[in-house]
Amino acid sequence: MSKTFILRKLHQLTGIVPLGVFFFFHMFTNAKAMYGEKVFNEAVADIHHLPFLLLIEIFGIFLPLLFHSVYGIFISSEAKVNVRSYGYLSNWLYLFQRVTGIFLFVFILFHILHFRFGLFGDFGLTATKVSGNADKAFAIIAGDFQSAGILIFYVLGVAATAWHLGYGIFLFAVDWGIVIGEKAQKATLYACAAIGLILFAVGTNAAFSFVRPCGLMPEVLCDAPKEAELIQPVAPRKF
Ligand code: HEM
Repeated sequence: MSKTFILRKLHQLTGIVPLGVFFFFHMFTNAKAMYGEKVFNEAVADIHHLPFLLLIEIFGIFLPLLFHSVYGIFISSEAKVNVRSYGYLSNWLYLFQRVTGIFLFVFILFHILHFRFGLFGDFGLTATKVSGNADKAFAIIAGDFQSAGILIFYVLGVAATAWHLGYGIFLFAVDWGIVIGEKAQKATLYACAAIGLILFAVGTNAAFSFVRPCGLMPEVLCDAPKEAELIQPVAPRKF
């Protein structure tokens, strides 16, 4: 087995686990913003209270992300762009996978440096980092998203990730021999497109939830539980 073969397989695998799985849960957590500040901040606090969080971040997110993006850029630099000569759908999809990958490198770098490490406060963004400030998480993001440019940049980031992951799952399934045959591959492509669309819709609605209650959905669809409706202990706690 050649070194290139192993690196390629590892590149594909890291895109699905852990990065794809992380993205799925990240959008799910962000979606809680549609229930308002309190619910979202509690969700962020729950993440901050995960045991071994720093180790999970380093080995489950940062290192796989570093490998996936650096090796992805290397693959892109080697890729032959043949859209003009062939123009087949697969060639366009192949090109777009690389374009979104390069955009995501810039987007995710900015995103982590800002929200996780608190950089770019000098450029008109909120200077407080989200990490370690769960009680201010919603306010920090809502402050940044007041700028239409930042909000659009985030929607593009969500769109690019949803596309990249959706088509990435398809490429993975074909390359690892999970789906064989033209008919099965076509059906898988549609299923992956649906996964990408759902993630895009959930992520975009989450982004808009920081500037408008319930995001882009009618408010009737996200009636947050009132304080009084929250479950109260029936009997006084003994311990
Ligand atoms: C609606 C759009 C988004 C919002 C509101 C958002 C929010 C956040 C916040 C608040 C954090 C910091 C968490 C903390 O330190 O406690 C974070 C981290 C992160 N986000 Fe996003 N995000 C969005 C979109 C994305 C997208 C499209 C990606 C692409 C994969 C992404 C990838 C990451 C990564 C890799 C981290 C670092 C995780 C960590 O440090 O544990 N985010 N995001």
